[in-house]
Amino acid sequence: MKFFVDTADTAEIRDLAATGLLDGVTTNPSLIHKSGRKFLEVVEEICGLVDGPVSAEVVALDHETMMKEAAVLRKIAPNVCIKVPLTIDGLKTCKALTDDGVLVNVTLCFSANQALLAAKAGASFISPFVGRHDDNGFDGMALIQDIRLIYDNYGFDTEILVASVRHPIHVLESARIGADVMTAPPAVIKALFNHVLTDKGIAGFLADWEKTGQTIL
Ligand code: E4P
Repeated sequence: MKFFVDTADTAEIRDLAATGLLDGVTTNPSLIHKSGRKFLEVVEEICGLVDGPVSAEVVALDHETMMKEAAVLRKIAPNVCIKVPLTIDGLKTCKALTDDGVLVNVTLCFSANQALLAAKAGASFISPFVGRHDDNGFDGMALIQDIRLIYDNYGFDTEILVASVRHPIHVLESARIGADVMTAPPAVIKALFNHVLTDKGIAGFLADWEKTGQTIL
């Protein structure tokens, strides 16, 4: 499963990229607002930090303007992935861009039928929002299972990008189901490293090492 980080915080991206586990980045207008930075500048900087796809979202609601915004965004770097909402105009834009060889991430997916539409429109990635699904009394991971089943039934190439990931169990379940990608905030990715027995083991080894009176350097 590929790991994307869901942030526009370039310090966090740089830190995670150094671990070698980062396969891409997703942003959205709320994350750009949180960064306090200029959209085009921050996307350009992120594209220089990772080799994989960097999702940058259009904000227009009509196909024509979405295409104009996408034209600006795709000039930033070859690894920009245009993010479009799951609407009729969003999918028209998806079809036009993917036909032209551009990566497209279809976002704000909340049903398996929507995911089916996105795949038929040629989406490179479909982003079902599991956390927001759970928040509203639905089962986010059941949605991922349904999409996996449908995509496998018909051999769609669209990658399932699990989004709105809130905790490590979402990551574990995504991997069990066979999602292609998950995108999570830096804190959730960092939480994956933690285990109480790892901490306890380090403390025990260091205590015994101290008793040997030796140093390595
Ligand atoms: C995905 O691309 C979205 O940016 C993101 O996962 C949304 O997550 P949220 O529901 O925590 O805002």
